[in-house]
Amino acid sequence: MPKYSAPKILTAIAVGAILSLGTLPGAAVAAGQPASVQSATSVPAASMLAPASASSFSVAAARGIDRNPNHLDVFVNKSYPLKPTKYAPKTKTVSGTGISLRPEAANAYNKMVKAAKKSGIRVKLISGYRSYNRQAQLFNQYTRLYGKKYAERISAKPGTSEHQTGLAADVGNYNGACALQSCFESTPVGKWMKKNAHKYGFILRYPKGQESVTGYAYEPWHFRYVGTSLAKSYKNSGAKTFEHYHGVASTKKSSPKSVKGTAKTTANLNMRSGAGTSNRVLLTIPRGKNVKLTGSKKSGWYQVTYSSKTGWVSGTYLSNVSMPKSDTKKKDTKKKETKKSSPKTSGSSKKTTANLNMRSGAGTGNRVILTIPKGKTVKTTGKAKSGWLRVTYKSKTGWASGTYLR
Ligand code: DAL
Ligand code: ZN
Repeated sequence: MPKYSAPKILTAIAVGAILSLGTLPGAAVAAGQPASVQSATSVPAASMLAPASASSFSVAAARGIDRNPNHLDVFVNKSYPLKPTKYAPKTKTVSGTGISLRPEAANAYNKMVKAAKKSGIRVKLISGYRSYNRQAQLFNQYTRLYGKKYAERISAKPGTSEHQTGLAADVGNYNGACALQSCFESTPVGKWMKKNAHKYGFILRYPKGQESVTGYAYEPWHFRYVGTSLAKSYKNSGAKTFEHYHGVASTKKSSPKSVKGTAKTTANLNMRSGAGTSNRVLLTIPRGKNVKLTGSKKSGWYQVTYSSKTGWVSGTYLSNVSMPKSDTKKKDTKKKETKKSSPKTSGSSKKTTANLNMRSGAGTGNRVILTIPKGKTVKTTGKAKSGWLRVTYKSKTGWASGTYLR
């Protein structure tokens, strides 16, 4: 992956970002986005945020992932887009702001702001609910301004933003200090929110240093309302991100590739960002050089490492290709497993033979998500653990004892 370097334009307009975006058509509210990204780390592709796979399965994965946008605990990210894509919630205006949120979030927000005020902290709402179209407008603006790669680090594509649920709030200081910038973390509101937001049901959704997991650069201002009990549970779990909490933090692909084999180039060979000539050239590897194979292969292309860069080259111009057979096999199996456990539930159906608790994990010690009435049909994902099955019912996914499923 190439290192990302922030375009120069950013530093120049960082401070005026909200104002400038606010003057654009349709940007009546300062529903802006950061013009600053903090670290020049390599950019994660959306595909890095893989849904839970059998290989990334952990205890945390046993928590139910709620994809119903009407629920306060709905899980949304690049890999878990909103369904329906153009979902629009009922919202209410947060008094004195002109910005709206889902009523539950708005009420909690007001409570939080009051509490902060008592401690002498004045929280300002910068952005709340954004429709699909508004999000599209923003994403396109950032793409025009900074390019798609950078835009994807700071802005969700329409249909994938938590703002579209009406449950996300971008907050700032009344004096505008460090608005939508990483330095917001050190301002009075930034500090207060970090310490107290969870008490009112809000969680910091895009923490520092977790871009490879969340898909977004650090946003100390973006808080997601999930309700007080989930916010507490999340806080107590010590999970680094909401993705970790749900067991879908797939950082594997961003970690250094393990070397699985070697090969030699038989020509000056372009290393590309993807498997195919339409992808960007990262560098040209001279003829006769040894390259390392990561073990990934796709339509005759190999993923290789050369001169500290990793990319794809055509297998036509490689000789002495040595890649252990067993590794290739393992890869194939993994692919199948990933498919099987993707959030779109495939697999079989079963019927409940009793009123059956769906729990957040495989065992009675886990939280009850809901009770499925006797005689109902549930979808099973194929995952099983100690006699428990992973099931989906009424847009909720969790675990139920196999004893009561037929
Ligand atoms: N800035 C966040 C990721 C959003 O656009 O929803
Ligand atoms: Zn936000």
